[in-house]
Amino acid sequence: MKGVILAGGLGTRLDPLTKVTNKHLLPVYNKPMIFYPIQTLVRAGITDIMVVTGGPHSGHFMSILKNGYELGIKHLEYAYQENEGGIADALLLAREFAEGDSVTVILGDNTSDADISESVKNFTEGALIFLKEVSDPERFGIVTFDPDDHSRIIKITEKPPVPDSKWAVTGVYIYDRQVFDFIKEIKPSARGELEITDVNNKYIEKRQLKWNELKGYWRDAGTFDTLLEANNYWAKKNKDEKAK
Ligand code: DAU
Repeated sequence: MKGVILAGGLGTRLDPLTKVTNKHLLPVYNKPMIFYPIQTLVRAGITDIMVVTGGPHSGHFMSILKNGYELGIKHLEYAYQENEGGIADALLLAREFAEGDSVTVILGDNTSDADISESVKNFTEGALIFLKEVSDPERFGIVTFDPDDHSRIIKITEKPPVPDSKWAVTGVYIYDRQVFDFIKEIKPSARGELEITDVNNKYIEKRQLKWNELKGYWRDAGTFDTLLEANNYWAKKNKDEKAK
C-alpha cells in the first residue's frame, strides 16, 4: 500500500494567508497542516508516500518535509500539478508512483486523529471511502444510501443544495489500481475540475465501493472557520495529553 497526499490547488478560500505560503503549510496549532495527514498515513504503517502539490509556494514543502525521515516516512516523492484541475487530476500524477499497488489517498487539508490501520490492512480491491455525519452537508460530497440497505451507497453528489443525507465523504480514500483508469474516463465538471466524486461514482456503478465511518475527530481545515476550529481542537488535545 502506498500513500498519496493531495496538496495542490491555490487555496483561494484562505486568501490572503495563502499569499504567504501554500495552504497545507499553514499552522494547525503547533504543526504545519500537512503533518496531520502524514501522521495518519504513518500511523497506519504507510511509509512510502507521494505529496502532490502546485502553485507558487510549492518549494516550501521541501524545506519543511525534506526527505520525510523526521516524520517516519521511509520514501518521499513529490509531484507538481500544473493547474487547479481538481482532486482527481492531482491524483492522476501518482500513477507511476503507485506502480500497480493500491493507494491510500488523503486530502492535504484534512486533519484527523482516526486510526485507519485496520481498514488499510484488510483492504483488498475496489474502493473504500470514509464517511462522517456532518451538520453542514451542502459543503461536501454527500452519499445517498439504498433505502432498503443502509450499508450500500447508491450515489454520491458533490455539494448538493438539497442533500439526501448528512453523511459526508471525508478526504480519506483507499483505491485499487483501477482508480487511474477511472480518472481517465471522467470529464471535467461544471466548475472545470476532475472530481473525485465522479471517480467514486464509477466504483459505485461497478458495485465495488465500500464505506467505513471515520472514527474520531475529523475536520477539513480549508476555510477560516474550520482552520480556527482545527487549531483549537489540536491545541486542547495537546494540552490534555501533556496533563495526563
Ligand atoms: O474534505 C472533504 C471534501 O473534499 C469532500 O467531501 C468532497 O467530496 C471533495 O470534493 C473535497 O471538497 P472540497 O471543496 O473541500 O475540495 P477542495 O477544492 O477544497 O480541495 C481539497 C484538497 O484537495 C486541497 O486541500 C488540495 C487538494 N486539491 C484540490 C484541487 C481542486 C489538489 O491537490 N488539486 C486540486 O486541483
